Amino acid sequence: MPTKFLITRAYSVQLDKEDPLAEFRKEFLFPGPPAAKAYFCGHSLGLQPKRTKELMLHELADWEKWGVEGHWKAANPWLHYHQSFAKPLSVLAGAYPDEVVAMNSLTTNLHFMLASFYRPAGKKIKIITEAWNFPSDRFALESLVKLYGYDPKKVIIELKPGKKNTALTTEEICASIQKNKDSLALVVLSGVNYYSGQAFDMERISQATHLAGAFVGFDLAHAIGNIPLHLHDWKVDFAVWCSYKYLNGGPGAVGGAFVHQKHGHDKTTPRMAGWWGHDHNTRFNLEGTYKPLSGAAGFQVSNAPVFNMIGLKASLDIFMQAGLTAINKKRTTMFNYMVFLIHALCTEDQKKAFSIQMITPVTQQQHGSMLSIRVEKNKGKQLFDLLSKQGFMLDWREPDVIRIAPVPLYNKYQEIYSFVLELSKHAVLVRL
Ligand SMILES: Cc1ncc(COP(=O)(O)O)c(C=O)c1O
Repeated sequence: MPTKFLITRAYSVQLDKEDPLAEFRKEFLFPGPPAAKAYFCGHSLGLQPKRTKELMLHELADWEKWGVEGHWKAANPWLHYHQSFAKPLSVLAGAYPDEVVAMNSLTTNLHFMLASFYRPAGKKIKIITEAWNFPSDRFALESLVKLYGYDPKKVIIELKPGKKNTALTTEEICASIQKNKDSLALVVLSGVNYYSGQAFDMERISQATHLAGAFVGFDLAHAIGNIPLHLHDWKVDFAVWCSYKYLNGGPGAVGGAFVHQKHGHDKTTPRMAGWWGHDHNTRFNLEGTYKPLSGAAGFQVSNAPVFNMIGLKASLDIFMQAGLTAINKKRTTMFNYMVFLIHALCTEDQKKAFSIQMITPVTQQQHGSMLSIRVEKNKGKQLFDLLSKQGFMLDWREPDVIRIAPVPLYNKYQEIYSFVLELSKHAVLVRL
């Protein structure tokens, strides 16, 4: 348990006063009561940056003014709108700008990347994933192998943690990759698991996968904008994400993808093609043979959904101003502070009705912002409802988990203090 914090409310006030990111809170809009005390759902839907409305009105005005000519005459010409995302997304993904692209939505991008990187050959047809991967990813993988005429039960290996653990260890993952190397084609895992909040060691998994002669891809829905990423240096083959969680892009906002240069610069990399991935010099000739753009941009199929990208633009500007070093530092401190307070305050008491466990690994680099708390004896929803009534906006996941994510750009230490104080009135921490 980290011990460098104090248990008083005054201390949380002090932490907020010393917070170099405190001013960014006013860049966001907060839902009113009953969620007045704290919004801890950035892992589900990030808050609206205030500038989103202004940027939206600006594009509406340009549409009104220019009609179709807005594609080249608008202040941010729509023909090139998506290109402005390459730089900030590359910073967040730890990539080169030509390795990232804002396009489509998450599961759509996963399908596109699977079309490129699932290349079964001979005995090498298997896919390793997590048993607890998000259902959409499992559905995508199942439908993919069925398209090839395989039985998902025989081809997809779903990893589960060893008996006593709530988290899959890197050793377990790498051991399975090594064991299945003769039949392995692809590894698809999340960067941060949506349920447990566990962050995976993407670098070691990537190394192990390549040693096994397979490709590796990550679903970064809960990782991008949350934990430090170095996708290029880790030699990850591909990654996909959504922008409505930690990236604050708004409901259903445009997703994103990373394709490592070694594949993106290789025009022979198989892909699902469309005109937006085609060479822009000849795109509007509307004839000829398909010539993919170099880099991740060459995996686009359709023209950019401009109005679905505006929230992301507003949010990425804030990320770039705040800087990832400060964001990462505050995220770690907030997480450790919350864990510290739970240890210190959720202590044994006969009158407390709920027993809780922290299922997110608490050691550094094994988690992001989110802490997942398992509530024992089927009483989780009761505790969740109780905390919600007290004004804490949290997230409930069947069958027994409450997920809480303090986000560096807009949450305060005082909110964490108030939350844990309320939690401690009802719950006792069971140490694993
Ligand atoms: C980890 C993860 N993967 C995939 C999805 C599906 O995303 P989409 O509906 O944008 O395809 C989600 C949605 O919350 C998710 O959390």
